Amino acid sequence: MAGPLGDLEAGGTAEPPPTGFTDPDSLTGGIHPGRLVVIAGGATTSTVRRLACPFCHGQHADPLPCTGMTVLIIGGSGFLGAELVRQATSVGRVTATTFNSRPGQAPDAPWHRLDLRDPRRLGEVIDTVAPSAVINASSGAADWAVTADGSVRLAQMTARRGIRLVHVSSDAVFSGASRSRYDETALPDPVTPYGAAKAAAETAVRLLHPDAVVARTSLIIGDGDSVHEQAVRELAAGTRKGALFTDDIRCPVHVADLATALWELASSDATGVFHLAGPDALSRYELGVLIARRDGIDPCLLPTGRRADTRILGALDVRLDSRATQGRLSTRLRGAGEFLDTTR
Ligand SMILES: NC(=O)c1ccc[n+]([C@@H]2O[C@H](COP(=O)([O-])OP(=O)(O)OC[C@H]3O[C@@H](n4cnc5c(N)ncnc54)[C@H](OP(=O)(O)O)[C@@H]3O)[C@@H](O)[C@H]2O)c1
Repeated sequence: MAGPLGDLEAGGTAEPPPTGFTDPDSLTGGIHPGRLVVIAGGATTSTVRRLACPFCHGQHADPLPCTGMTVLIIGGSGFLGAELVRQATSVGRVTATTFNSRPGQAPDAPWHRLDLRDPRRLGEVIDTVAPSAVINASSGAADWAVTADGSVRLAQMTARRGIRLVHVSSDAVFSGASRSRYDETALPDPVTPYGAAKAAAETAVRLLHPDAVVARTSLIIGDGDSVHEQAVRELAAGTRKGALFTDDIRCPVHVADLATALWELASSDATGVFHLAGPDALSRYELGVLIARRDGIDPCLLPTGRRADTRILGALDVRLDSRATQGRLSTRLRGAGEFLDTTR
């Protein structure tokens, strides 16, 4: 075995290496020859295992402190991507990020122009950054070449290079035909081109990169700056046509909770499908009322309607069940009733 443990095995005189855990280090002064070393001890099968970080080999007290890993965020100029970058740079994590049309606001993160439709450029960016992990927070909407083909290429390239991959997906992979909530074992049955592209991407990621994380989420809400919150303000002001549907149900999540959970998953050795949505199932109208109240807007100004009465393609009632994932994370995913409640 190479490194300090190899020196120990060979009876060498290297300084005892730290165990990587603060308390044992203070008690033992590190790992000494002749001591029983339990590697990867302490993990349970029911929680996301963060004790043996695959990047810094240290102990993580919370999801963010692994500064030893260089992470590439695809789509850092987007809504979720910007929060991922913000959280990372705030703790000094080495982070590079990409934009497609215009770079984002974070000056500390190196920005790389990337169009996922261009395989040569994707290879160049990955080889320039040489990341330990990639989080794909891009959105090409219903454009198959970006959302499906681009994700497939990214999965191929990261798998070939042994790079950890966290792929962000969507509740749009489900039709809403199920009468129950969709848990992590539910199979995709998309009813829109966007949902089909996301489902194709998920399938490719899981097959090409079996160690990857596929993280499905729902409506992403912030502190006023998401597209959903902007729409509520514009509908109330009458500057936008449309209505908030009373029969279109989702499980909104706060962008900060979502980004922290993604960092937690990226820093772990977890693999497979995870659901990162809030516990509250709300109609678009109910969500709009909560946003309006928070923003001091009279909810009576919000136009309502029924999606079932329109010809708009898409699922009506899609409730992601995130309980299994939540049980494995230390990050708490709050419900919209909590994070939009100004009286708390
Ligand atoms: N927002 C939601 O409510 C919601 C709900 C469920 C799931 N999701 C998923 O969450 C993730 C993040 O969504 P978001 O709302 O944060 O997205 P967003 O704000 O629309 O940002 C999209 C990002 O993708 C980049 N991008 C667009 N076309 C690209 C291309 N051809 N090649 C490379 N990058 C490209 C954009 O770059 P530029 O800005 O520079 O063009 C931007 O950084 C997506 O996977 C989405 O499917 C979102």
